Amino acid sequence: MTNTHAGALRMIDPSPSDITSVGRLTCSPSHRHPELSGLVGRTPVLRIPDLRPGAGPEPDTGTGAARGRGFWAKLEGTNPGGIKDRPALHMIARARDRGDLRPGAPIVESTSGTLGLGLALAGQVYGHPVVLVGDPGLEPLLRRLLRAYGARLELVTEPHPTGGWQEARRVRVAELMDELPGAYCPDQYNNPDNAGAYAALAAELLEDFPRIDALVCAVGTGGHSAGVGRVIRGRFPGVRIVGVDSVGSTVFGQPARPRLMRGLGSSIHPRNVAYDLFSEVHWVAPAEAVWACRRLASRHLMSGGWSVGAVALVASWTAAVLPPEARVVAIFPDGPWRYWDTVYDDDYCRAHRLLEAAPPARPAQIGHPTEREVTSWTRCRTVADPLSRVTGLDARLAGDVAARPAGGHR
Ligand SMILES: Cc1ncc(COP(=O)(O)O)c(C=O)c1O
Repeated sequence: MTNTHAGALRMIDPSPSDITSVGRLTCSPSHRHPELSGLVGRTPVLRIPDLRPGAGPEPDTGTGAARGRGFWAKLEGTNPGGIKDRPALHMIARARDRGDLRPGAPIVESTSGTLGLGLALAGQVYGHPVVLVGDPGLEPLLRRLLRAYGARLELVTEPHPTGGWQEARRVRVAELMDELPGAYCPDQYNNPDNAGAYAALAAELLEDFPRIDALVCAVGTGGHSAGVGRVIRGRFPGVRIVGVDSVGSTVFGQPARPRLMRGLGSSIHPRNVAYDLFSEVHWVAPAEAVWACRRLASRHLMSGGWSVGAVALVASWTAAVLPPEARVVAIFPDGPWRYWDTVYDDDYCRAHRLLEAAPPARPAQIGHPTEREVTSWTRCRTVADPLSRVTGLDARLAGDVAARPAGGHR
């Protein structure tokens, strides 16, 4: 997908009227509000003791510096919208610098929610109308919030026959790019500025911690794991970088299946995923993430959504198997608010059989992502780009992955 439609550029006049008609859409130009960007970043870190069933509290050393098994969580949910405020601001700033996004021109993007919040912020900071394409899984709270923030939100109604909801959203974005003169699509899946946006987050971690032994990140577009991981590996070459994906996601080479969890995982292969950085990948199932989210909330107040639960589960286990002095840092991409009707709703969770058991104390293991399809928490220490597999079993399974219908994927 091209980011700009050069030649067909038509700027949106933010005045005198508040409403400008663009193609067959009507966009509300946002107002410039540069100081808003100062609300993003410098997020706090919180010590989280071992969460796993049966684990007790960390010993109190009497110095305020408890050091048992546990990990540090970087709370990106304290940004106005969540972790994606960072790439939204950065991608838009860079596009403006390059001239790909002209003053007042519309921003068009596909989102499962978090980047939409970030782009709504960026639209107000830089004065651009924002047009977002979501799908029916977008939580009602998010829909209202995005519209309240001035974004125009469209929902696709049918999954793409092979690429699921994600592809359906991308197809609609491509149509909008043709309809809206001068429109710019950040394309978070493939735009290197998505990953580049996280240099500041990495710098904050380096300020917070003199040493990092393991970094645990959820993977969706691959942006934050690539951006943070690259800097942290540069400083600490031996750091263990742990990717956390959803069961049913193709990112690390499993077959694409309909997925309940949003945020982490993908039914496409985003080019921002830095496969070379990962020491291992874990796939987590929705019930396991729900268990961890609720455990976090009831014991530590700070919780979040699917990706926070999945990352917390994996980070807790990672801290338990590394030497006690190892410092494990996990990135929590957002907070709990938008998940009241899913992760934190008993009826929803019962209907999806998400409350039936605590996760196991440790993940199952496979030797290669294509060894078998996984449906619960599983770890794999072989990480490779599924698009670069070539021979034998790999090729057969790669064909299998590519050929599967993806109806219902997010
Ligand atoms: C809540 C949440 N967690 C995790 C991720 C994955 O982050 P990334 O796209 O940087 O891989 C996303 C991406 O949209 C998200 O919204």
